Amino acid sequence: MQTPVYLDNNSTTPVDPRVLSAMQPLFETQFGNPASTTHRHGWYVEELVSLAREQVAELLNSKPEEIIFTSGATESNNLALFGICRALLKHNTDKPPRVISASTEHRAVLDPLDKLREEGVQVEILSPGRTGRIDPDSLKKALEQKADLVSLMLGNNEIGVINNIPALSAVCKQQDVLLHCDATQAVGKIAVDVSALGVDLLSLSGHKVYGPKGIGALFVRGGPSGLPIEPIIYGGGHERGLRSGTLNSPAIIGFGKACEVAAGELERDSKRLGLLASKLLGLLRDSLSGIHLNGDEECRLPGNLNLRIDDVSNAALLGKLSTHLSLSATSACSSGHGKGSHVLKALGLSTSEQNTSIRIGIGRFNTEEEIAFAANKISQTVKELRQS
Ligand SMILES: Cc1ncc(COP(=O)(O)O)c(C=O)c1O
Repeated sequence: MQTPVYLDNNSTTPVDPRVLSAMQPLFETQFGNPASTTHRHGWYVEELVSLAREQVAELLNSKPEEIIFTSGATESNNLALFGICRALLKHNTDKPPRVISASTEHRAVLDPLDKLREEGVQVEILSPGRTGRIDPDSLKKALEQKADLVSLMLGNNEIGVINNIPALSAVCKQQDVLLHCDATQAVGKIAVDVSALGVDLLSLSGHKVYGPKGIGALFVRGGPSGLPIEPIIYGGGHERGLRSGTLNSPAIIGFGKACEVAAGELERDSKRLGLLASKLLGLLRDSLSGIHLNGDEECRLPGNLNLRIDDVSNAALLGKLSTHLSLSATSACSSGHGKGSHVLKALGLSTSEQNTSIRIGIGRFNTEEEIAFAANKISQTVKELRQS
């Protein structure tokens, strides 16, 4: 067993060796530009990109032409939100677009919405309550005033809580409102089927599914001409005009392979991650008092534990554990700015509850031995800190 043991898989995942092998030729012989239409170097890579598009589409139960490759879920979220709102601003000049989202969303949704407010868009942010789930009735109430777009995530990146997207989608459909879903954390861990979910747009990212960083996709129902959506990057007209820029073919091929592997291993991964997380929680609860799970106990992504440990500062705990375990207190994006977790705040946790919370993200390559080691190290360190 290698230490530190990596238990921050909600932040990013290691690249699966099968993904790396699929990408290797793209850095060697298959370096062509998939947009080059006059020679074999281009044609061959274009075929590989088409296959990757099919692999991503298959995992989501969508059509390949509904998949737009982007640089990651941050860009996918920006494209969905700016793209729809700017199309509405262009065509409906009489009234500003209205968007509804939630306070537990990733910053890659909340920050674009702040910017859209400056462009004249009306934004309403729903609060989830202590479970972290958005109540379909609160959405229904917000939609008593006509809206154009709802953006709600599937699985939360900090607390792992899963929103009931089919029920939220049914509310949107009653009011004829588009639904965008950030499914970045859920893809590969639970079934993500765009039809069963009833979403119009859905974001995902390569590096959360054991693929490379810097690649993602936006599912757009019916493709770029199926919805009113404007590009946010202009240039050579790639991705049917919705996302210009030479395709990042090595990353796209890796992402496609990662999705193919995820589809094949979904059931096994999902079950295994759930078992490892229950085992870790059980071991910690057996040896320590004052351990609480943040967010809903049942509707959670397998592999995620967001734990509140009474009387132990997360900064002190993570500092002492860092030679043995790679863990975090909040999302990687928030951990640098020191403002704490907006998600835990949104659940109504007090400052001291927020400061005693840690996030554990178990992934495909973690072993039972690592989980037992982690339980032991966490218990031991918590006991030391409580005594000091
Ligand atoms: C829910 C969620 N949305 C969006 C993102 C951003 O993804 P990317 O790193 O691909 O830009 C992340 C990554 O942390 C995430 O967890």
